[in-house]
Parts: sequence; C-alpha cells; structure tokens
Amino acid sequence: MALQTLKRDASVDQIIEVMSSDGALILEDVVDEQRIDHCVAELKHFIDVTPLGRDDFTGRLTKRTGALAARSGTCRDFIVDEIILAAAESYLKPYSKKILLHLTQTILLQPGAAGQPFHRDRYAWGRHLPLTLEPQFNTIWALTDFTSMNGATRVIPGSHHWEHGREPNDSEVCVAEMSKGSVFLYSGSVIHAGGANHSEQNRLGLNITYCLNWLRQEENQYLSCPPEIARNFDPVLQDLLGYVQGDYALGYFSEPTDMTGQREVVSPSVLMNRND
Ligand SMILES: [Fe+2]
Repeated sequence: MALQTLKRDASVDQIIEVMSSDGALILEDVVDEQRIDHCVAELKHFIDVTPLGRDDFTGRLTKRTGALAARSGTCRDFIVDEIILAAAESYLKPYSKKILLHLTQTILLQPGAAGQPFHRDRYAWGRHLPLTLEPQFNTIWALTDFTSMNGATRVIPGSHHWEHGREPNDSEVCVAEMSKGSVFLYSGSVIHAGGANHSEQNRLGLNITYCLNWLRQEENQYLSCPPEIARNFDPVLQDLLGYVQGDYALGYFSEPTDMTGQREVVSPSVLMNRND
C-alpha cells in the first residue's frame, strides 16, 4: 500500500477517508517557507540548548524540545490550523465529544542519528485501550525537507488495523518524504518510526498531536503552558490545552488558597477570565 498525498485544499472528508483506510497521509505545502523560517527562528535558542535523547527510542543524536504552545506564536497558529484541527476533531469524534492537545515537540535528527524502532504512539497509554478505539490524531510538520536520506518518518499504511505484535516486512514500509511546509498526518494506531539521518544536515520536524479529552496528555500542558501564559491565547487553544471542563464533571478545580468560596469546584476556564 502506498502513502497517499493530498493537496492543501483537500476537504476534511477527503482527509478522513484516507486516514480511515490508511491511517496516514501527507498534506502537501500547508504553509510557505517564510512561516516555517519564522517558526524555526522563534524556537532556535530552545532547540540549541536542548540535550540529546537518553536512549535508542528518544534518539541519542536527537533533540526533542517542547512547551511550544507557550514558546512560539507560529506553533500556536499551527495547533489551531482550521483544516487539520477539524480533521482531528472529526477523526476522534466517535470516542469523545472534545479533544485535547496531547504534545508539542520539535524533533531534530542530527547527522548520524539512528532509525527509531517501529511503534504506535498510542502505546503512551500502554495496551490498555481496546484496538477498536482510536485515541489519537497526530501531525508532523516538515520544518526542513524530509527525505529518505535525512530521516523522513517511515510508516506502514493500513497498519492501524493490525493486531498487537505484528511486525512489518520491508516491502510494507513507506517513507514520508515531503517538502518543507508539508505535514504528515498519522493516527495513534498506525505503525511508524523516525528514519535514520544519513545526510550531512539536520532534519527538523514539528510533532503536534491531539488526543481524546478523557485521556492523560503526554506533555503536561498545565506545566508546559501554565494559566498565566495561556490566559492570553485564543479560546480554542485554551480549550485544547485543557483550560475548560471536558465534560459535566471532568477537570474542575478548587483554588487552594481561596477563602471566599468563589473558586470552589469551578471550571479551569475561570482562570482564563471566562465563564464557561
Ligand atoms: Fe512515534
């Protein structure tokens, strides 16, 4: 099965159709080079000082940098991209009324970085969730070109339907080659891995992922993007970070120092100066 590519003007329905059948696709030329360069400039210092990964999975020549909702206005725009967010909501709608931002992370593969083991991102929650349930919708934005030489993501289209433990053979593996500004979309269940960087240049990607609102987020958004920062954001982004109740009784808080009773069992949206 080949990895399909859709144009930027693809409809949400078209994206969902391919995601349902293949579990992955490339959305071509989503943003121009100038916006990507601006994003990289906003994050350059944080990436420069990020330590290398601690093991073969995180990558010993790989830098992973987070808190991007707090650190980059361009990333904030990408997180709430109209089409991609609508696709994420539609894809996850059968399992939850609302979704959350699961993680934000640039992934820089230095020259010589080894390929990552194949995995499913949903294994962040172990294997407790039934395979009939899709917990996650993921994106990797190409901040540089992604090529087979520099570590473009490897993916097995259709593998989101596989049982646990099935290993891909070489002929089933596709390489998500894409130009800077394109976005790789993939489900939490599709089997994939970061490639090896055999080039002389860094490969830089931006991983933005979304999950069901009743699951724990991989990146703790309340710490990576605390209320005093999130207060100034678009309400759509505040909701994705988790600063709204997920359901009737999901995610309320009580202000520990409040002696007036005004902040007892209330929605976190009050910290955003909202009343919903
Ligand atoms: Fe992954």
